[in-house]
Amino acid sequence: MKKIIINMISLIALSVVADINIIPQPNKVVEKPGRLALSSECILSGSLKDSPRVKADVANLFAVIPKETAAKPVKLQIDIGGQGASESYILKVSKDGVHVESPSPSGGFYALQTLKQLVLFSQDGTIPCLEIEDAPRFGWRGFMLDESRHFFGMDKVKELLDYMAMYKMNRFHWHLTDSPGWRIEIKKYPKLTTIGAIGNKSDPDAPAAFYTQEDIKEIVDYASQRFIAVIPEIDMPGHAAAAARAYPEISGGGSEKHPDFTFNPGSEKTYQFLSDVLTEVAALFPAKWIHYGGDEVHFANKQWLEMSEVKALMKKENLKDLKEVEFYFNRRMAKVIDGLGRKTVGWDEVVNAGLDKDKTLVMWWRHNMSDALQTAFDKGFEVVLCPRIPCYFDFVQDDSHKVGRRWKGFCSLDLTYKFPAGLNIKEKQVAGMQANLWSEKVATSDRVDFMTYPRLQALSEAAWTQGKNKNYDQFLTRLKTHIPYMREQGTYYFNPFDKTEHAEPAR
Ligand code: ACM
Repeated sequence: MKKIIINMISLIALSVVADINIIPQPNKVVEKPGRLALSSECILSGSLKDSPRVKADVANLFAVIPKETAAKPVKLQIDIGGQGASESYILKVSKDGVHVESPSPSGGFYALQTLKQLVLFSQDGTIPCLEIEDAPRFGWRGFMLDESRHFFGMDKVKELLDYMAMYKMNRFHWHLTDSPGWRIEIKKYPKLTTIGAIGNKSDPDAPAAFYTQEDIKEIVDYASQRFIAVIPEIDMPGHAAAAARAYPEISGGGSEKHPDFTFNPGSEKTYQFLSDVLTEVAALFPAKWIHYGGDEVHFANKQWLEMSEVKALMKKENLKDLKEVEFYFNRRMAKVIDGLGRKTVGWDEVVNAGLDKDKTLVMWWRHNMSDALQTAFDKGFEVVLCPRIPCYFDFVQDDSHKVGRRWKGFCSLDLTYKFPAGLNIKEKQVAGMQANLWSEKVATSDRVDFMTYPRLQALSEAAWTQGKNKNYDQFLTRLKTHIPYMREQGTYYFNPFDKTEHAEPAR
């Protein structure tokens, strides 16, 4: 009986908010009587009324309403200032217009994203009167794109940033260097792009593909207009083969399977080279963080033990094994990043390297190694949660899919959505969560879309909405209304409601 009553209550709740299809689900929504008639015109007032950026955003937002609509121009007042959590906002819709309040411009921007969804998904040219009070659960709501294995280019990145903004995600982690290709112009070392940018995971002879420093500035600016910080990753001391192809003198060798996989940790030339690279990187990316990888070094670092420079380093610094050499390297390069005024980000292998907890952010990715997460918490590090399952979007999302990765399971939409339920976390130390799209098996724009959407929407809600306000079935109901929007954009998403709409791309 109790269950029936609860079901009835949730049915009533669902029918009341039937046309409020916002993703991520706002944390408090109160519906009011009446509806606001929409117009393609808007009269902007308040503290941002003269901002060209906000004026353009607002004009775009209402441009979807047909011009011939008889309704009066919508009055939209935006007030930024006062106290409150950063990124929080209040959105009030009444018959007379819309009022946004937020302590920060980012909160104002998120209120507009909420309003944009109400307008976009309106069925009849009106939106319900309501009051929304909203703030994110986590400050870090990230997406990582690997452009070393395959390169997708400016337009694709901007498209991703647009979707991220629409879903209130705020960290774009850009995996720009790895063994298949070096993708960022460094003026001091031109061969990194004339040689290092040649090739990709499908074709080692593919023409050089990379971002010039001008391209990078354009992307960083595009992202910042959408309140997205761009975090560059320059992977070290492993995943270094592209750099070593360009400058063999800094190679620390590798293995048969992974030739020239590492930088040489015994040579001062390496530290100079990487410091120079990071100095140019820091000048391009204003974000607080620089990611320096630190992952999978053990894959192919055995040759270090045969190198006279590494042997000399071990003696001088009293380093007893390969792990200690790796950690020495981690500490030295973290000092460089600190000297550039940035916080170091590393994959979870770095938790035992002796890094300063206050200057380091750890990304927990090895889902089979909960001890690495626990150690990160115990040592007081701030952590971004991005375990392979359910946050690696190169894993398949449906059991019928053949091309992507699996690891005794895969990353279904519901697993991504429900994360981090069931995981033992110290919430105060969790900066947030992130999806990572590795591109070994993602070579085309269509496949980027297919692997990203709608899991990106699921992750955005997992990162934004308080656990108690999440409901997977309701998410699916809301998601249904977002599918036609993605279709209109020409996005090649996976459709969980009609799995045949887009076939799985082979590459
Ligand atoms: C990783 O997947 N190697 C961080």
